[in-house]
Amino acid sequence: MIRFAFGLRRSLDRGYCVQAGLGGTREKNLMSYAESVLRSADCELKASQTKEAFEWIQGMKGNMDSAEGGGGTEWVLGPSRVALDMPSRPRKPILLPPREMPSHKQLKVPLADYLLHCLAHVELNAIDVVWDTILRFRSEPSALPLSFYMDMVSIAADEARHFTLLCARLRAKNLSYGSLPAHTGLWEYAEKTKYDFKGRIATMQLVQEARALDSWDRLVTKFKSQGDLESSRIIDQICREEIDHVKKGLYWFNWICRKENLDSVLTFRECVRSYVGKIPPPFNDDARATAGMSREWYDSLQEK
Ligand SMILES: [Fe+2]
Ligand SMILES: [Fe+2]
Repeated sequence: MIRFAFGLRRSLDRGYCVQAGLGGTREKNLMSYAESVLRSADCELKASQTKEAFEWIQGMKGNMDSAEGGGGTEWVLGPSRVALDMPSRPRKPILLPPREMPSHKQLKVPLADYLLHCLAHVELNAIDVVWDTILRFRSEPSALPLSFYMDMVSIAADEARHFTLLCARLRAKNLSYGSLPAHTGLWEYAEKTKYDFKGRIATMQLVQEARALDSWDRLVTKFKSQGDLESSRIIDQICREEIDHVKKGLYWFNWICRKENLDSVLTFRECVRSYVGKIPPPFNDDARATAGMSREWYDSLQEK
């Protein structure tokens, strides 16, 4: 009882609280949210905890603004935790190496359904990758400011909403996430960049998320040509929202390069050559430019 009372007192002081989402009476901070999302095999729980974390950190903004001038904001991040090799995942979908993924024809499902399932899987991976970035780079030597973590939580919350939207669309078509196989491709980049902060932002926000912008028109057209107008509308909305993720990635990539006296475009190219290789065209130059990414960032990385 005494312990509970003490915890409750602290909760009033700093926004900690007793909660079910993070398991009993653990303190709310970003590291505990990150660990909890990554350890959860329940994808709906991953999405709902991400949403909760975003709302929590938004609610804490006032406290943080006053703390930044004085007592610091370490309590928002929480103590460092050991990163996980792999996030927990539900028993289904079955995960296959990208080259072994069957086509929609082999699975005998309509292309629109197959694509919806693939995209839901991409969004679920994106949630895990962002939380892994938050957890893994907690102690970056260049001392990332709290605003970096807030941007990451905001991206994770968007991905969680995208995942929820796509799952709802799958359900409306009498399907569910997990009813088809999925590939392990996205996590491979997370694995490759687990010790390289610049590599992580480059491969995830500046390559993978920017490629979502490149496929925007093609995806919308594919859904329309399949007669699935509702899905095309959802995909259009999701792709539009990915612009902000690239923008945030660019901001932090430039930030870290400035801090380390590096040329950000050259450093980005090095990261891409190390972890990705070439980037396949066509590029959505307009959407990339809206995110702040000019052609010099990717022109020379183009697959011929
Ligand atoms: Fe997304
Ligand atoms: Fe995204």
